[in-house]
Amino acid sequence: MSEAMPDLISDEVADLVARADWITVFSGAGISAESGIATFRDAQTGLWENFDPSQLATPAAFESDPALVWGWYQWRAHLVRQAEPNAGHHALAELAAVPVAQRGDATSSLDVDVPRDSTRGGADRAVMIVTQNVDDLHERAGTPVLAHLHGSLFEPRCSRCAQPYHAADDGTLADLADLATAPDLAAANDLLRIPPPACAACSAPVRPGIVWFGEPLPPRAWLRAESALRAAEVVIVVGTSGMVYPAAELPERAVAAGIPVIEVNPEPSLLTPLVDHHLAARAATALPALVAAIRGR
Ligand code: OAD
Repeated sequence: MSEAMPDLISDEVADLVARADWITVFSGAGISAESGIATFRDAQTGLWENFDPSQLATPAAFESDPALVWGWYQWRAHLVRQAEPNAGHHALAELAAVPVAQRGDATSSLDVDVPRDSTRGGADRAVMIVTQNVDDLHERAGTPVLAHLHGSLFEPRCSRCAQPYHAADDGTLADLADLATAPDLAAANDLLRIPPPACAACSAPVRPGIVWFGEPLPPRAWLRAESALRAAEVVIVVGTSGMVYPAAELPERAVAAGIPVIEVNPEPSLLTPLVDHHLAARAATALPALVAAIRGR
């Protein structure tokens, strides 16, 4: 799907992006919305509109009802496995391969501990993806993710000894896909209950590899994200409400450091008043338009 929005990308935005040899992308649930993955806070369709995070996304929730929490995340992993990356994810993969436009000034210092080869394409433009998303759609579009700030649906681990666990999709959740659009919380809760497996090493219950409310972010991911935001010449913020901290601090810090920040979001977010440019369009429209606009500059 693509909408014609001829004036969406101004010359100023196109020039900024075309000339940047280091771009850091900060993404949220909105970039996966057009792949059919529900966001958290959009009216009606958002997961937190329909499910109670205190029952599903806290350490206490897992302790009191592990089968509900495990089943809910298995269900979400199932939905993501059925989904495909959209034009927004693909455009970010293409961005790395568009050669940097000529310019007169010196490039920014690239002296942070972030591997340049973690970008795809081998061109002289680094595109670093820092995401709050727990899906794998950036990776499946061909863009390695530098930092999954909130963990991953596909990295469960032991709740006691942290040994990784490989969960297969056995198809038992296939009939529950419509819970995403018409959830009746009580009924959904009963349907979703799946007892977590036991850790092979210590027998404790395996838990989802997600950062829950009240838990710290993975330190390595956070450090890499901080470095990538600091080193960026341009930051592109896509599809986040900017409501969850500390993640939302990262684009705020970029703004404070004077790094140009471009936001892609069809709605205003908490970050909109701070950013330099707000592209009021969906990711699968705005990001391909941006890549098209910088080609040949
Ligand atoms: P939210 O659901 O809070 O915000 C999604 C944003 O995406 C909103 O601002 C929408 O306007 C925007 N949006 C919707 N469709 C879009 C589209 N097609 N293109 C671009 N933008 C679109 O999601 P996040 O900000 O990602 O935490 O939420 C942050 C964290 O809160 C999540 O990582 C999750 C949640 O609790 C954990 O899982 C730990």
